[in-house]
Amino acid sequence: MPETITITDDRTGKQITVPITDGVFPASAVRELDPSLYIYDPAYMQTAACKSSITYLDGENGILRYRGYPIEQLASKSTYLEVAYLLLNGELPDAAQLAMWKHEVTNHTYIHENMRKRFVDGFHYDAHPMGMFVSSLAALGTFYNDAKDIDDKASRDKQILRLIAKTPTLASMAYRFSAGLPFVYPDNDLSFPGNFLNMMWKIGEYNIDPRLERAMDVLFILHADHEQNCGTTAMRVVGSSHADPYTSAAAAASALYGPLHGGANEAVVRMLTDIGHIDNVPAFIEEVKGGKGSRLMGFGHRVYKNYDPRATIIKKTAYDVFEVTGKNPLLDIALKLEETALSDPYFVDRKLYPNVDFYSGLIYQAMGFPVSMFTVLFAIPRTVGWLAHWQELLADKDQKISRPRQWYTGVEARDYIPMTSR
Ligand code: CMC
Repeated sequence: MPETITITDDRTGKQITVPITDGVFPASAVRELDPSLYIYDPAYMQTAACKSSITYLDGENGILRYRGYPIEQLASKSTYLEVAYLLLNGELPDAAQLAMWKHEVTNHTYIHENMRKRFVDGFHYDAHPMGMFVSSLAALGTFYNDAKDIDDKASRDKQILRLIAKTPTLASMAYRFSAGLPFVYPDNDLSFPGNFLNMMWKIGEYNIDPRLERAMDVLFILHADHEQNCGTTAMRVVGSSHADPYTSAAAAASALYGPLHGGANEAVVRMLTDIGHIDNVPAFIEEVKGGKGSRLMGFGHRVYKNYDPRATIIKKTAYDVFEVTGKNPLLDIALKLEETALSDPYFVDRKLYPNVDFYSGLIYQAMGFPVSMFTVLFAIPRTVGWLAHWQELLADKDQKISRPRQWYTGVEARDYIPMTSR
């Protein structure tokens, strides 16, 4: 028996019945009922803004899959570049396709010298690396006028390749500038994460511990996509105006910058540092509950009402990293916070669990990344998610320029009063 929903307009008695498919019914039903009627849905909490076949997320049960593959399997068996191919193409590559994809990405890692010498070198010495990253993405687009040709598949593919390949270069450039260090050119003999780590820390011969290189790759996989989050929605909204992908990605990165989104990993480490000692955890939790202090950063999620599956993997990865780097002293505070929160009715009743950002910052810090780089580390792999959604958006015949309506609550029409009469 097909599932349907019937909506009645009590003002007119008009009724409309529409199908429910996969728990979704079309808002066009409301339009049919009365074209001047709108749904009030701040933050799009109850709105499916698009159809998507990229990422499946079941927040109640803590399930995350890219193109049907469980995140746990991808994190333990795949690589970021293979996952990037999967997200963009819908299927895992065969050996030849993967080799070609790696070759192509590797050959686009360099950026124009003017980006570094004139653009990045023009920032103030204490510019935040994420601010530099956001603006570099938009600036990068000015080097590729072919990016405007979004109707041409060959051009779209080229820009996708460029963006995926160049984000680690932009990220390391932002870091090296903020640290007053000279730029390190990409080394195309290295793996994707190895090249990035090398551009961050180069000290002569390549000497990154393979366990750290793998941890970086796992973190890249976990952050690659997460369906219609704030940044991806920004990508889709801006992309829907047919802006080029660099400009759209800059908008997505801007959204990611906020402390309620990708900026939370930075906020977690600052919070743990402020707490200072496990003995201070109970008092901190009381402050959070009383609404006096900040929220418990790295906890809670709009969709997950269960443990974020990425947090489980990251927690395990943290121990792998600490074997190489030594334990991050903030780990004990984080563990105590998690234990305290998960046994407190405030957090239990609201289904607040650790999210992806709770433990990732501890790993980044142990690996030597400054706190200000954490959101940039999130943005590097999320770029592929943004681009996969951008591609999907452009191919979707249902989509038009994003243009929500509003519930006007201002004053009615009134006549202008000249200054002399006010
Ligand atoms: N600490 C304390 N209370 C919280 C928290 C938290 N971290 N998160 C939610 N709550 C409370 C909130 O006060 C509200 O309580 P009440 O019903 O009494 O008013 C209730 O839980 C529901 O919160 P909400 O703000 O309506 O939930 P939301 O879905 O709009 O917010 C969130 C989701 C992620 C913005 C929020 O949980 C939060 O601010 N978390 C901390 C920041 C964070 O870790 N962000 C990273 C998110 S995951 C990665 C990413 O998106 O980039």
